[in-house]
Amino acid sequence: MVSEEQRRVPAKRGPKNKLALFGGKKAVESEHEDIFRWPVITDQHEQAVLKVLRAGQMSGFEVTKEFEKKYARALGRKYALAYHNGTAAILGAMYGLGIGVGHEVIAPSLTYWASVAQAYTLGATPVFADVDPDTICIDPKDIEHRITPRTKAIVVVHYAGMPADMDAIMKIAAKHNLKILEDCSHAHGALYKGKEIGTFGDVAAFSLMTGKSLAIGEGGILFTDDRKVYERALLFGHYIRHDEITLEELKPFAGLPSGGFKHRMHQLSSALGLVQLELYPEAMGEIDKAMNYFCDLLDDTNGIRPIRPGKDTGSTKGGWYFPHFKYVTEELEGLSLSRFSDAVRAEGSTCNPGCNKPLHLHPLFTTMDVYGHGRPTRIAYLDESVKIEQYIETLPVAEDVNRYVFEVPWFKQHRPEIIEEHANAYKKVVKNYRVLLADDTGKDTESPRSAGTQIGGYSSFFSSQPRPSEGRGQKNTQ
Ligand SMILES: Cc1ncc(COP(=O)(O)O)c(C=O)c1O
Repeated sequence: MVSEEQRRVPAKRGPKNKLALFGGKKAVESEHEDIFRWPVITDQHEQAVLKVLRAGQMSGFEVTKEFEKKYARALGRKYALAYHNGTAAILGAMYGLGIGVGHEVIAPSLTYWASVAQAYTLGATPVFADVDPDTICIDPKDIEHRITPRTKAIVVVHYAGMPADMDAIMKIAAKHNLKILEDCSHAHGALYKGKEIGTFGDVAAFSLMTGKSLAIGEGGILFTDDRKVYERALLFGHYIRHDEITLEELKPFAGLPSGGFKHRMHQLSSALGLVQLELYPEAMGEIDKAMNYFCDLLDDTNGIRPIRPGKDTGSTKGGWYFPHFKYVTEELEGLSLSRFSDAVRAEGSTCNPGCNKPLHLHPLFTTMDVYGHGRPTRIAYLDESVKIEQYIETLPVAEDVNRYVFEVPWFKQHRPEIIEEHANAYKKVVKNYRVLLADDTGKDTESPRSAGTQIGGYSSFFSSQPRPSEGRGQKNTQ
């Protein structure tokens, strides 16, 4: 830690170095809102939507089927099924896999709730695993000891664009005969060792809502090569397309949705999807270039570490949805992340501490009796002898991670001079960190186990807006 004397004697600094937090000139000066704008809507999008509107096709499925076909071909999977949102696509995928009463589904605790909360709807029990501190994706080393005879599937989330460790996870699934559901909502177009994510599991689901890197308003889609998974998902929530059902075991139930759900995608979204599919590879390439440039500029900066796949691994982050860095407080003499981020935001850049709150600590998964079974829903469909305590996890990384990760600017265009200004905002704060120590109240000691904790959130789309001191930044995440 810094000495008392050091606290009283700030680092020598000229006007250029004076932090904006203390009245200095901001590091980010130029007007550049458009570098964050997302999605980019062009005349091509407008025409595609107008065409559907004018044809009176809003509630049909022809445009949707075309979107499914093109997306499946682009990803290299046999079947695609579109949904009105990603949450429904994951529910459909779970039903498709045969997840039902008494089954357990292992998922990372650190994700958006819709990766796994739908298991309740099917009478299944989510089981949470810890995440890897470097990737923030499910930690394969924390999966195997959670497998029981009831385990049916593992949900893998490629969190914040980082591809999860698929080699290790696929090995575990094969050994224990488990299904893999990839939640690719954060990682459209990302690669794991040269292979596109969404092509590893038995089924993959993507959210396509406005904030995502492939954005069509509200929407979701699942992909599979397994006809049975596809047809079960059709049966569950797409009754109007039951004429596609070919499997004898499912045919007698066609006509009505077995889940009582209507999961159809709005055709205006499908029309947008067709355009986005065409434009996405170029847009993704631009984001990848911009974000890697930003990371390269900050790679050797004390106290911060970009979270991205290693160079020459063949892995990439696709559209870099919800990009994060790690904060290493020890390298800045214990300066709290909250104080650090206040200073970076004052310089005009984006720096939001935290990511998603761990799910396993929320009452929905510890105490709540959602449907009136007389016991917590998490164990409601299991043997009477099972106690909720058996399911309540302690996950050290997931519980701690919000204290040492932060969201960085999500650049959609590679404009080096602007990106350099943002990188300079970070470098300037790191260079002058000592002047921040004096008034540091150290808010990072907050634990996710304490009520009302402010770090992280359950939805960053609505809560992680640019803070008042920030002035500019991205708006559309999750
Ligand atoms: C990881 C993850 N899974 C699933 C979803 C659910 O998607 P949707 O919002 O389209 O229902 C989201 C996002 O919103 C997400 O971030």
